[in-house]
Amino acid sequence: MKVIFALIVTLTVISALAGPVQAAGPRPMALVPQPWRVEIRPGEFALNNQTVILIDPDSADALNVGKQLAERTRRSTGLGLVVRTADGTSKVSNAIRLSMSQAKAALGNEGYSLAVSADGVAISAAGGAGLFYGTQTLLQLLPPQVFSPARVRPTVAWTVPAVAIEDRPRFRWRGLLLDVSRHFFNKSEIENYIDLMAQHKLNTLQLHLTDGVGWRIEIQRYPKLTEVGAWRKGIMFGLNPKDGTAWGSDGRYGGFYTQDDIREILAYAKDRYVTILPEIEMPGHSAAALTAYPEYSCTGGPISMDGSNGPEVEEYCVGNEETFRFLEGVLIEVMDLFPSKYLHIGGDEVDKAHWKKCPKCQARMKQEGLKNENELQSYFVRRIEKFLNAHHRTLIGWDEILEGGLAPNATVMSWRGIEGGIAAAHAGHDVVMTPTSHCYLDYYQAKRGEPKAIGGFLPLSQVYSYEPVPKALTADQASHILGAGGNLWTEFVPNYRHAQYMTYPRGCAMAEVTWTEPSRKGWGDFRARLDTHLLRLKAEGVHYRQPRRDDDAPGK
Ligand code: ACM
Ligand code: ZN
Repeated sequence: MKVIFALIVTLTVISALAGPVQAAGPRPMALVPQPWRVEIRPGEFALNNQTVILIDPDSADALNVGKQLAERTRRSTGLGLVVRTADGTSKVSNAIRLSMSQAKAALGNEGYSLAVSADGVAISAAGGAGLFYGTQTLLQLLPPQVFSPARVRPTVAWTVPAVAIEDRPRFRWRGLLLDVSRHFFNKSEIENYIDLMAQHKLNTLQLHLTDGVGWRIEIQRYPKLTEVGAWRKGIMFGLNPKDGTAWGSDGRYGGFYTQDDIREILAYAKDRYVTILPEIEMPGHSAAALTAYPEYSCTGGPISMDGSNGPEVEEYCVGNEETFRFLEGVLIEVMDLFPSKYLHIGGDEVDKAHWKKCPKCQARMKQEGLKNENELQSYFVRRIEKFLNAHHRTLIGWDEILEGGLAPNATVMSWRGIEGGIAAAHAGHDVVMTPTSHCYLDYYQAKRGEPKAIGGFLPLSQVYSYEPVPKALTADQASHILGAGGNLWTEFVPNYRHAQYMTYPRGCAMAEVTWTEPSRKGWGDFRARLDTHLLRLKAEGVHYRQPRRDDDAPGK
């Protein structure tokens, strides 16, 4: 009996592997994030070896987007879609037409329209980002296996259901933060993170490049930042060293991006219409920098970043003029590399006790007429803001920068709740919402059976339920809410596989929170679409977390 049973199982498995071309059949469209308008039409379009991608002449964006679509489909389908310039004279069938000349202005730079008929596909957009997003939707309309990085065998019918879509984002800031300080992720891992974001129409990646336990960006003026500050003795956080992937050849733990690495990451992101927002933490969370250059601390050091010296001075000394010279030198190099309009300077969780004891900081307060250490922090942030503004950049910081008085042009990232965001919007400042209650991807995804996390509890449904515009705001004030993002702090994320696990599918929910109009959202509908969407991530080899029915059940 057992042998026969095994034989049947084996034959079933073999026939599944070697079976004929699978019929596509009617598929639920299951788009994530849900588009603005979708009209289902009869029929379908089938990709084949004669399908061409037609682009506008002289459009670098269309060429970029067309080439990526050709490459992506080639890898999984094996079809060699050729990218060709449209001559505009005759109607072409069996084509994917990418056009920036026939776009509807109302859809904006990131919006697009997409029409699929038996004849072909037409995507139009006013901007490269919109065109790119149109192709991302097209990929989701194909069978999920199209996301496979390798040729799909047996092949499937590469068909697209006929449909007319008009789409545009709700918010212009659709973000994720990746903390590369607590644990280091290499260049190709960052590029994969960018790919996954872009697929979900997320457009802003905040790289948390510096913190107490690691400085991750080469600064040529200050080489010790990476020679010393990028490496620590161990993995820390009580983690198993075997789970870490960032061990140097000398046995130290860490790593950093050279300026060439940064340029490559930026070029990769630009091609996918992702802005990289660099975060250089100050004045707190700075033990790695101060281990390398203790002269910019209040005590003069020594300082260590691996916790061996007991309580650390983590803050730059605000009384020391040389601190500003140092930080401006760092920021000059950061601005030379990153084209982002915004520069994030951290500003959170400063232990002001050290400033209380420091004669230089106290002298600064006296000289500037500052009543307390909150005002000293405000003095510091205003000075840095002046410097950034002089270089045509906008300062963004965590909501603690409100304490002691907000710098005049600063944008606030509201994380300790929504109150900081509300206060900043009331005062006419722009805001990005990332409250711990809905956006902290380092929190547990379920109350049971999860790998160790920092604490908290943020199931998928809670992320999905997030409404970034606080009710307390008038329509005018609400226009200051640029958008929202999820934050992946990585104390307990020792490798990239685990970063994927913590980010997805909660990142899918964040994509829909920031892209989709509330009237088009619904948890039940999203959850059903997600089942198909996860097949895409599976085909792509993403180590996502499989949601369970009882993830958000209370009291486990
Ligand atoms: C933060 O989570 N400390 C911004
Ligand atoms: Zn000081």
